[in-house]
Amino acid sequence: MQDKISRLNALYSYWSQCTRCPLANERKNVVFGYGHPSAPVLIIGEAPGGHEDECGNPFVGDAGLLLDQYLAMVSANPEVRAVAGDKENFNPKLLRDLLRNEYFFTNIAACHPPENRDPNLKEIEACMPRVRELIYLIDPVIILAVGKIALTSLTGKKALSITQVRGNLFDIEIPGRTVPLHYTVMALLHTSYLCRMNDFKQDTSLGAKTYEDFMRAHRILDEYNKHHFGIDIPKRGIPRGQ
Ligand code: URA
Repeated sequence: MQDKISRLNALYSYWSQCTRCPLANERKNVVFGYGHPSAPVLIIGEAPGGHEDECGNPFVGDAGLLLDQYLAMVSANPEVRAVAGDKENFNPKLLRDLLRNEYFFTNIAACHPPENRDPNLKEIEACMPRVRELIYLIDPVIILAVGKIALTSLTGKKALSITQVRGNLFDIEIPGRTVPLHYTVMALLHTSYLCRMNDFKQDTSLGAKTYEDFMRAHRILDEYNKHHFGIDIPKRGIPRGQ
């Protein structure tokens, strides 16, 4: 683990000086990402927004809060559920602090594109070695691609419609030390899109479908833990009707 942490630190030091693309000229901070060095679930968004650029941390605005709420809803950790469920004294920072002990959060592009535009192909290509190295080092059981940019950048399949493939699994290949390594990616709707659509009420809403996607991703993790380590499948999710 210590070796992994020092390699992640070395990666961070390298990329925090990056000038591989013009986004370096206008950024305030490189948003490298953070979380557990061996997180079984690696969360990859699109690019830092203005808030993330200011503070250097990924997913800190409304999209980040919604992401954390989904993670809390499917969490097997009672502390996470308690913090998320504390309506009177809700503390988003405490929730994120707990979640970053379990997950790793990053983006395809580490720097904020001006006016919140999508990162372009050159910017994505410049940053993908960082993303691949993160995948290699963290070695997650499943990767959550949050939004179309993350999905298409990871899979290389440009024509995918995220609304059609959300919840689907994709196999990706990254360079390994000797042979290529394969990882499983789940496509998710972007939480900033969900915030804009505000469609959470019905069982058939985009919000409800995304909840099912988060549940399924975590069930894949549970099955993996049961199969490889004999760990019982934990209780997750909100009971129906709540
Ligand atoms: N914040 C991020 O860090 N990434 C996104 O994709 C959106 C908001």
